[in-house]
Amino acid sequence: MKVLVVGSGGREHALCWAIAASPLCDALYCAPGNAGIAADAECVTIGAEDFDGLVAFAREKSIDFVVVGPEAPLVAGLVDRMTESGIKAFGPTEAAAALEGSKGFAKDLCAKYDIPTAAYRRFAELEAAKTYIREQGAPIVVKADGLAAGKGVTVARSVDEALAAAEDALSGRAFGESGAEIVVEEFLEGEEISVFALCDGKAALMLAAAQDHKAAFDGDKGPNTGGMGAYSPCPAMTDALAAEIEEKFVRRTVAAMKAEGRPFIGILFVGLMITAAGPKLIEYNVRFGDPECQVLLLRLRSDLLPALVAACDGILDSFDLRWYDEVALSVAMASKGYPGPYQNGTEIRGIEAAEADGRVKVFHAGTARGADGRLLATGGRVLSVTALGDSVADAQRRAYAAIDKIDWPGGFCRRDIGWRAIAREK
Ligand code: AMP
Ligand code: GLY
Repeated sequence: MKVLVVGSGGREHALCWAIAASPLCDALYCAPGNAGIAADAECVTIGAEDFDGLVAFAREKSIDFVVVGPEAPLVAGLVDRMTESGIKAFGPTEAAAALEGSKGFAKDLCAKYDIPTAAYRRFAELEAAKTYIREQGAPIVVKADGLAAGKGVTVARSVDEALAAAEDALSGRAFGESGAEIVVEEFLEGEEISVFALCDGKAALMLAAAQDHKAAFDGDKGPNTGGMGAYSPCPAMTDALAAEIEEKFVRRTVAAMKAEGRPFIGILFVGLMITAAGPKLIEYNVRFGDPECQVLLLRLRSDLLPALVAACDGILDSFDLRWYDEVALSVAMASKGYPGPYQNGTEIRGIEAAEADGRVKVFHAGTARGADGRLLATGGRVLSVTALGDSVADAQRRAYAAIDKIDWPGGFCRRDIGWRAIAREK
């Protein structure tokens, strides 16, 4: 098979690394990719948003299978475009990607199909939103309806903060069109878990669960980011909880989407809060998480590629995936300043030394080669240093030992990824 992966982050590096290892893969391309992905795939300089360019390239190379990594091209309909052009592509259609593309759509689906989630109201009118926020009081959560690069959610500790967030979104200032409508919802308290399932429109195959650290700094402090680290499995996930989540969230959502005429094919990422009243949905995503994908794929024993193809072909019920029992833990190394402004082009050395431990893999998230071959940082999150271990503590130790061999004065990382799970192990 000739395969094209679309995207350029740590998630796409992990996807390329896993797909390149498949005996079914004869040729692998990544658009646009990065310097690390270039070791596993031939990178082509076509952006993930350039649908005409991607379709033309897939035709020219007779690509058999396209795997779309990030949410933006999925929500904008890249899989539909590929399918219309006769090219098999993995991921939800535009209609099914509304689960992530419109928080209002997702919340209404939960209400209609009895999927537990925070109480909410949708608003397009500022005055009505303000009245509701004042009635409900704080803490309260304000969310832009559409995609906002992970910045559309305000967990407001005060009514004033919530009012300001509603005004910023609905005025169009903060998120443009994505904020033209908002969801205002109940604040949920508890531990967050991310659950992943591979779906073929009718059936769902549960993948491993993971937990990530969204805050930029140690102790889960500081601004929210795309994710500073993750681990899998999560000790908070018991067998009983896993069974409840599969039934109430994954199976119900797949059945609901089928009933709505928007069958969901792809990776369903269910973000949950484990509250005192049981698990409740925080949000859906329609793709692998980043960095959750890196930890999941390091733990995957089976060949990923035939599973993705089976999901596309609607024959997942005959499929099973096997996992290593080991723990995987990933630490994001980011450019100093991230998630605020940061400098691009700082040099990174020592990746080979970091990978000398055979249980460590350094996935690249934002790197490029300079003209002289030096490895340069080209993004906020730059490396995803991922290790397998016998426990969360062991995986954490290996990940940080690897990081200490990386020579990158322009970067930083959190030093406490996995702390909650390690406290449970003790
Ligand atoms: P998102 O940007 O959609 O991934 O959401 C960012 C984060 O906001 C989530 O990971 C949660 O930590 C938090 N969050 C979202 N909704 C709620 C809620 N209803 N209650 C408490 N925290 C929330
Ligand atoms: N790490 C969270 C996400 O990918 O959305």
